[in-house]
Amino acid sequence: MLKLGVNIDHVATVREARYRGRGFGEPDPVAAARIAEAAGAHGITAHLREDRRHIQDRDVWQLREVVKTRLNLEMANAPEIVEIAEKLKPEIVCIVPERRLEVTTEGGLDVIAAEKALTETRQRMSDAGIEVSLFIAPDEKQIQASARTGAQFIELHTGTFAEHFDDEAKRAVELKRLVTGAQLAHSLGLKVNAGHGLNYANLATLFQVPHLVELNIGHSLVSRAVFVGMETAVKEMLALMKNYRG
Ligand code: PXP
Repeated sequence: MLKLGVNIDHVATVREARYRGRGFGEPDPVAAARIAEAAGAHGITAHLREDRRHIQDRDVWQLREVVKTRLNLEMANAPEIVEIAEKLKPEIVCIVPERRLEVTTEGGLDVIAAEKALTETRQRMSDAGIEVSLFIAPDEKQIQASARTGAQFIELHTGTFAEHFDDEAKRAVELKRLVTGAQLAHSLGLKVNAGHGLNYANLATLFQVPHLVELNIGHSLVSRAVFVGMETAVKEMLALMKNYRG
C-alpha cells in the first residue's frame, strides 16, 4: 500500500506570518500532525530549515513526543541540524539542499558532488538508528551515487513533473524520467519515495511510476485543509492513493 507522509511545514508558515519570534501562536503544526495521523496518515514530515522560517526547534521536539507513526525530519546536511537529528531521533531523515532565497526546496541534492559528506552523515544517522532518504532529481548518476552512500531511500523530486503538468509533451518527458529512475533505484536496492508539488489533480498520472513506497505531500494538503479541514483533506488524499497499483 502506498503511504502518505503529511508535510506540516505550511501550517507553521501561517503561524510564523503572524507570530514570528514569539514562541507561541496559531495554527499549531503539532495539532495538525495529530489530526493528520488520526485521519490515517502514515507519517509526519517537518523541515527544520537553518533559517527557521517555518518549523521551529520546539515544534520538532513536540512532534517527537506526539507522532505515533513515523517522524520524517527534512534537513540540510548542515552540522547544526545533523546534531539535532542525532538527539531527536526521528525514524527517518530526508536530506535536502537548502538555499536561503528559495521559496521552497527547489532542486534535488547533488549527491555526486557531496558523496563523501553525505556518506558520513548517513553513517552517523545509521549509528543513531535513523534511516536516511536523499531528495534527488530522477537522474541516473544521482541515483547511483545515492546507492553508494548507503542511504535506504531516495525521494524522487516531482517538482518538474508538477510544474509541467499542463504541458503534455514536457509532462511525458518528466514522467518517463521518473519511471526510469524508480526502476533503476529499485534495482539498486533503494526504496523509492516521491514528493514536491503533488496534488489531488496530478496524482493519478504520477501513479504510472512503479515501486513507490511513500509520497510526501504538504502544500496541496494544507491548502485544501483551509476549506475542508485537515482530517477531510488527508482522507481525500488517501482515498486517491488507494488507486496506486505499483
Ligand atoms: N518532499 C520534500 C523533500 C520537500 O522539500 C517538500 C517541500 O517541503 C515536499 C516533499 C512537499 O512538497 P509540497 O509542499 O509541494 O507538497
